Amino acid sequence: MTEQLRIAFIGAGNSNFGGGEGPWDHASRLEKIGNVRIVGIADLNTALAEERLTVRRSGPSGGMYADTEIFADYRKMLDKTRPDAVFIGLPPAAHGTTEPTKDIEMTCAAAGVHMFIEKPVSAAPPEEVAPVADALARAAEKGLIISVGYMFRYSLAVAKMKEIIAEVPGGARAVVARYNCAYTEIASKVWWNIRRTGGPIVEQATHFCDLARFIAGDVDLSTVLAVGITGGEAGQLADVPTGPDGKSIEADVPEEFRVPRATAAIWRFTTGAVGSLTHGILLHREKYFTELEIWGDGLRIVLSDPYDQCRLHVRYPGGENVETLDFSDDDPYLSEAETFIQAVRTGNASAIRCTYADALKTHQLTWAIRRATQKKGHARLFSGQDED
Ligand SMILES: NC(=O)c1ccc[n+]([C@@H]2O[C@H](COP(=O)([O-])OP(=O)(O)OC[C@H]3O[C@@H](n4cnc5c(N)ncnc54)[C@H](O)[C@@H]3O)[C@@H](O)[C@H]2O)c1
Repeated sequence: MTEQLRIAFIGAGNSNFGGGEGPWDHASRLEKIGNVRIVGIADLNTALAEERLTVRRSGPSGGMYADTEIFADYRKMLDKTRPDAVFIGLPPAAHGTTEPTKDIEMTCAAAGVHMFIEKPVSAAPPEEVAPVADALARAAEKGLIISVGYMFRYSLAVAKMKEIIAEVPGGARAVVARYNCAYTEIASKVWWNIRRTGGPIVEQATHFCDLARFIAGDVDLSTVLAVGITGGEAGQLADVPTGPDGKSIEADVPEEFRVPRATAAIWRFTTGAVGSLTHGILLHREKYFTELEIWGDGLRIVLSDPYDQCRLHVRYPGGENVETLDFSDDDPYLSEAETFIQAVRTGNASAIRCTYADALKTHQLTWAIRRATQKKGHARLFSGQDED
């Protein structure tokens, strides 16, 4: 039996322990993978970390958490528990630069700790993330394993799409990404403030920008154009959640830092193919609408609902029928965690599908879209007034 890996979590929030609107939760995937020990959980909110630990200890894999210690300061956790690897699940504004306190990846790299880092790499502009990417690339050359959590890269449906596209002369000619988020149940105050997350293109639609790149290649960033509807007044969305004080959850967020309600972007890939993204925060209740469509010569593939009831609808060259393939049983979160753990065990990073450098390119694309919408005349408040 291989030696048990020592794993620690930085962040006791939803991405690492579950909750929120989706099927994520790295702890449960590690429980399935097994042969790991959770040596520490670091979170500024130690009460939350304690709560998470209590729940896990009473679960079916409680033994994995027998020695887990809680820390407010992740640096103390690294010193004391000496993990082999950490899962970093923090608000994007809390990490991903060289600035003290946000230099978490730099600190882990200096300590020789392998990292699984949730997307996006940061909320900071890509120029501030680039020095981190350089440092991590050097560390990776020396054997540090780093994986960024763009889990759709591990989806079987996406692998099938790539296989089908590869057989069509000229490959993907157009990528049409559509992502409409259901906003009424999003109760995280941080989420509603683009200064804390980078905004929903940088934080959320980043998954589809990354998929577009994974399928159709790099983007010529100089071609990115975008328009958007900025925050506007809370009343102009009918059902923004309320905080504990009974006020709209974004009541104290200045209008210019509220999440854009809709964004439409276009760009060209370096292959010559064209891409587009339409993103909205406009649906009610919990279920999102997410769909990514690829057109090639004779080919149309629709990846529908990849977070949940994942299906591919394929119309092949030379035909008119649409074949539907069901991937709803696939768990790309499990596959990405397995791949990371296996890479840490073997020291071989070749199966990792998203390096930090690659994730930075996706971050550059999302920031290019965000910046394009902020150009004068490209963003409008609901009142119809131009933003400066
Ligand atoms: N891949 C996916 O499908 C997926 C799903 C959910 C979240 N995410 C990403 O994961 C990241 C984290 O999201 P989340 O939902 O877990 O957030 P969250 O708000 O639920 O949890 C973040 C935790 O980090 C803690 N924290 C903040 N600063 C800290 C610091 N300096 N040191 C220690 N702890 C600190 C907070 O107290 C909080 O408990 C985000 O980037 C998000 O986009 C990805």
